[in-house]
Amino acid sequence: MSVCEFKPGLEGIPAAQSSISFVNGQEGILEYRGLRIEDLAENSTFLETAYLLIWGKLPTKDELIEFEHEVRYHRRIKYRIRDMMKSFPESGHPMDALQASAAALGLFYSRRDLDNPAYIRDAVVRLLATIPTMVAAFQLMRKGNDPVRPRDDLDYSANFLYMLSEREPDPLMARIFDVCLTLHAEHTMNASTFSARVTASTLTDPYAVVASAVGTLGGPLHGGANEEVIGMLEEIGSVENVGSYLEDRLQRKAKIMGFGHRVYKVKDPRATILQKLAEQMFDKFGYDKYYDIAVELERAIAEKLGHKGIYPNVDFYSGLVYRKMGIPTDLFTPVFAIARVAGWLAHWKEQIAENRIFRPTQVYTGHHDVSYTPVEQR
Ligand code: COA
Repeated sequence: MSVCEFKPGLEGIPAAQSSISFVNGQEGILEYRGLRIEDLAENSTFLETAYLLIWGKLPTKDELIEFEHEVRYHRRIKYRIRDMMKSFPESGHPMDALQASAAALGLFYSRRDLDNPAYIRDAVVRLLATIPTMVAAFQLMRKGNDPVRPRDDLDYSANFLYMLSEREPDPLMARIFDVCLTLHAEHTMNASTFSARVTASTLTDPYAVVASAVGTLGGPLHGGANEEVIGMLEEIGSVENVGSYLEDRLQRKAKIMGFGHRVYKVKDPRATILQKLAEQMFDKFGYDKYYDIAVELERAIAEKLGHKGIYPNVDFYSGLVYRKMGIPTDLFTPVFAIARVAGWLAHWKEQIAENRIFRPTQVYTGHHDVSYTPVEQR
């Protein structure tokens, strides 16, 4: 067998063949099933995009109506799951609560029939429908309140914002939130998607697949950066402080949160769209001084680090948008998970359609032929 070069983090090594999404990091292009992200953000909805990602084509009008209808009527969670969540510690991170709750779904829907398209559809609908309900339920219960029941008359995104606050959101706010979900729905072979595919390759159930991906997304090197952007903007405090803050960070060789990307060497196309959405939010719902700080920081970093290809990534403007919607900072990553469930499910379906269990190799760096030393002699 040939000896391969070891690449930490598997950098540059294809882990799958996939027709779900495509990124061109030099030109700032992101496509889902060949459709540009700008086109989808402008014209599609999150649920329609989820259908596109999972079934590989845009739904017809009737298919879309049926799919939306199914998701709408599967939003409620079993009272036993709600009771289980009630006993979670309120100080726990919402991502941990979500991971446990997603895994618990597998207990209630334990039948596994991966060759049956009806089973696949049922699992897709159930996960897309209940993950937002579980995120909102934990948010209310950790504050000592009862969860808010989903409202069947509201669309997917409006219903999630409603379940968080018990107030019907402004239609523009709900639309902007829906676009945010579309932008975060899928992004080729990242850590959580790889995790989902590895778990899927064992032919376990889709609830275990999503639970393992949620666990992977929760780390600060992956989904957690948008939370840190808000902390950074608060620390900077004013436009005047941007220059000195940046100098200080660069001197200490510290990273600036929300900037840089392994693949994009220009501004992330999702950041460009999110910036426009942030502007729409502030125009309609009031000015936010942190936006001015963000714009100045982007300008200053382009000047200092543009030659290295360091530009805003998806996390830079998303936090500002969510904050203006009243979403608590530690829910930013669970919101990311609500969106990414679509991509994970697309990868689950693609993986099991042509499966081979993941079983990589390793480069052994330990000893051989070591003799056992009895405990008295150690
Ligand atoms: N701020 C300042 N400098 C940065 C930077 C940032 N956010 N991101 C990268 N750089 C610099 C590095 O210091 C390095 O400089 P050098 O060549 O002089 O040593 C160069 O750019 C390459 O960086 P590297 O860390 O090797 O890039 P990567 O592809 O391994 O890392 C990230 C990509 C996303 C992990 C990295 O850019 C980062 O940590 N960004 C901040 C966290 C973040 O926003 N994460 C969300 C990603 S969507």
